[in-house]
This record gives sequence, structure tokens and C-alpha cells, in this order.
Amino acid sequence: MEIPWWRDAVVYEIYVRSFADASGDGVGDLPGIRQRLPYLAELGVDAIWLTPFYRSPMADGGYDVADYRDVDPLFGTLADFDALVAEAHRLGLRVIVDIVPNHSSSEHEWFQAALRGEGRERYMFRDGGDLPPNNWQSTFSGPAWTKTPDGQWYLHLFASGQPDFNWRNPEVHAEFLDVLRFWLDREVDGFRIDVAMGLYKAEGLPDTPPEDQAFKAESPIWGRPEVHEVYREWRKVLDSYPGERMAIGEVWTDSAEDLALYVRPDELHQSFNFAWLEAPWSAPAFRKIIDDTLDAVTAPTWVLSNHDVVRHVTRYGEGLTDSTPGLARGRAALLAMLALPGSAYLYQGEELGLPEVKDLPPEARQDPIFVRSEGRLPGRDGCRVPLPWSGAAEPYGFSPDGVRPWLPQPAEWATLNAERQAGDPGSTLSFYQEALRARRALRGSLDDRVTWLESPADALFFSRGPLTCVINCGSEPVQLPPHDRVLIGSAPIEGHLLLPDTAAWLYTP
Ligand code: GLC
Repeated sequence: MEIPWWRDAVVYEIYVRSFADASGDGVGDLPGIRQRLPYLAELGVDAIWLTPFYRSPMADGGYDVADYRDVDPLFGTLADFDALVAEAHRLGLRVIVDIVPNHSSSEHEWFQAALRGEGRERYMFRDGGDLPPNNWQSTFSGPAWTKTPDGQWYLHLFASGQPDFNWRNPEVHAEFLDVLRFWLDREVDGFRIDVAMGLYKAEGLPDTPPEDQAFKAESPIWGRPEVHEVYREWRKVLDSYPGERMAIGEVWTDSAEDLALYVRPDELHQSFNFAWLEAPWSAPAFRKIIDDTLDAVTAPTWVLSNHDVVRHVTRYGEGLTDSTPGLARGRAALLAMLALPGSAYLYQGEELGLPEVKDLPPEARQDPIFVRSEGRLPGRDGCRVPLPWSGAAEPYGFSPDGVRPWLPQPAEWATLNAERQAGDPGSTLSFYQEALRARRALRGSLDDRVTWLESPADALFFSRGPLTCVINCGSEPVQLPPHDRVLIGSAPIEGHLLLPDTAAWLYTP
């Protein structure tokens, strides 16, 4: 039976500012992406997800949208967008765009009108006096409220340039349904919904203890039951278009059962499953995540890195060289992830084994987390450094020669650039290509279910019909289970031993 494309797609996240700069201003753009699409087709992904490229003052790198129906001049034009989608489709790549419904930019015309006293009910304005209306903190640190000159306060769960919408106002619903149609009419294949568990806040906006302010299944701030009605409305719009249009929610939660609520048959198609991205390098931890996820959801997703977290090669152990385990573990984790049922989301640069850049100078950092925390928190710029494409020095082909990228690129990236790795069969890029090819070749022949095989405690062995995936998270080599042949290893597999920090796919017809 044919399954919808997104069910087992490999989706590649493009952080637009940092992928490829065609215009020569040091910032990535849509024409830059279009030029590099053949690289992604050759990598072997099925779809791309573009982070926001809409008009924005860039208080949060574009997650502060001033006009939901236009492209920011920094990134190009609507015509560039149409050309990108057409070219992607020609190459067999689907296109998912980001939609940001929890908040707009403070430059959005609705918020500008609200500041003048018109239409404040579209946002979360409250009287306060000298103190904010409640004790909520911004996710980016500091208070979640800012006072306007006339004395009222407005809520912003993120930066002060990102005022939260009031989803109890039907006008907000109508506006977003129209925005969805605008991009569906331009042939997008799906949406990634930013902060999908936000949108509604508990009536009365009660004070909450700090533990309720972290992402939770349900709190006065996150995961209000009313939000599901929004996705039921959106699903009807998606279903009214031809061609399997889909939506995936960015749902941070502390429970797999809660995730499942977002993907009920009349709601979203998928939600990100962030459990793995938050887990340590540990076989029991991985096994629990896999079991909990497969028990709770029928269309699972897997993700190791994105533009909001420390790159996994670094999380797994300071990844660059052979003497540190991060890169080996990152490659092993990829094989485990790609062997599971469901779809996988990759983050640009992980196919090059890029580590987090930890030593960005403070004056270069742009993430509002760094600014709002007055430098106490490093923020997310370290995983957003522009990609190295070629050459031995900055800008490594990201921008035309002589142009400085918006964040500085480390000198060590000279050996990690895509061109160099493409010519090296042992490189991380070649490994990703090979793994994605192997996954494609197996498509349709694997069981939907995962069967656990007996293994040493620090290793995992699971099979899906003819494929057995093995991963060794321990410090001792382990014996491979019986098999016919090795399809691929995250490192060379010799004899019957699986070395530490290594994974492999075994085939038995
Ligand atoms: C999401 C995005 C993040 C952004 C935040 C506010 O978590 O992934 O990058 O800062 O929403 O829009």
C-alpha cells in the first residue's frame, strides 16, 4: 500500500540565514538555496524545511514576522520563492515552510495599530501598574511583559519584539487560515508550526511556579486544550488542497502521550519528537525513547539536531577529531535514527559533521537569548554558523569571496567543507549519502514494527524484517548478532565485533 510521502520522509532543515548567500551581503538567501538544491538532491533527502524568510526586523532571526505574505528583501522576493519551489519540485524535493502563529513581530501592522490604541484585542494587553500583570518569564529570560508608553503591558513569551497573539479572538484564526492558503496556493507541500503548543494561555493568566514555565504537557502557559481546535481548522484547509499537504508541530512537552494528542487523525500529521535530542548517549535512554514514542504515536518523527540546540556531535562529546567520541557517536546515532519507522529530520551541516562553534566573540552573537540574559546564556548562534561549502578560508564558498558572513566561521572548518568531503569516500558527507541511499533502497521492504533482539546492556539490537540495526553505546566491543551481510557501518566493521561508538545495518533476507 502506498503511504503518504511524509510518513517516512527524510527532511532537511535549512536555516535560511546560514545556508548559502547568493546576493553577497553575508546572509543566506533564497537564490542561494536554489543554486545548492542539486547538492541536497544528491545527498538523498526527500524534502526541505525552510526557516522563516518573511518580512522581519530580525529580532529573533526571522521568527518575528512583520508580514506573513512577503519575503524579506534580505532573503529575496516572492518571485525567488516561486522559482525555488519550482526547481525543488523539478528535482523531486518537497518544500515545507515555517509558520509562526504564537506571536508576530512588534513591527507587524496589527501591533503597530495596537500601540496606537486600535485592535489591542488581537494581542495580549493587560493593565498592570508598576508591576507586570503576572510572574511569567520569557523563554529567552527576563520578564514576559513589556510596558507600553500609555501604561498597559503586553505579553511576549519570547523577545519583546515578539508580542503574543490573542487566539481567543476569531480575527486571529481567520488571518492564519488565509496565510495558510496564501502559501498553499504557492505550492508548498507543508508547514512546520512554530511553538505549536503555545497560542492559548489559561484564562485569567494566573501566576505560575517556575517549574510550570518550562515546556510541559499542560500548564497555564503551554499545551492548553483549546489549541487543538486550531489544528482541526488547519487540517480542513490542508485537506482541501490536492497532493498530500502536511503540517508538523514544534511541540516541546514532557510526555509522549501529550505529543500524540497533536497528531490525532483530524489534527496535525506529525509533531517533532524532541526526546532523543534531549537524551544523553545511552542505550537504555535510547531504548526508552524509541519504545515510548512507538507506543504513543503512529507517525513517529526523529531528530538529533536543529537550529535551537547544541549540535549533536558536540553534545555527544566535543566532536571534531578522532580522539573525541562526538563525531563517531553522531554518525552511529544517524544510522539508528534512519533505521526506525517514521520520518527523520536532519539539520543543515550535520551531514558535514559540523560541531557547535563555542568561541564566537560576544560582539558577533545575535541570538536574543544572549542579549536578554546579558551574556549569562550563550544562546543558539553556535549551531547557526554559515555552512562551509568550499575553499580553505572564510567565507568557504558561503558568500562570494571577500564577503564576511554574518557570523564568523572557524578556521578548522577548512577540512570540513562540502566540496572536500564530497571527494573523500570516508567523509561524513559520503557516509550520509550512503546511509540515505541504503534507506531508500530498503523503502517498502521493512516491517512497521520494531522487534528488540537480545543484546548486551550498553548496546541496542533491533530488527524490522530483513534489517537489523545494531548500536554500541558502551566502552567494550560487542559481538554482532547473526546476519547475512553488513549493509553499512558508521565506521568500518571488521569481523564479528561492533566497536564502541559504532552502529551498523545488518541484512538477512
Ligand atoms: C521556536 C523556534 C525558535 C524561535 C522560537 C520563537 O522555538 O524554533 O528558533 O526562537 O520558536 O519563535
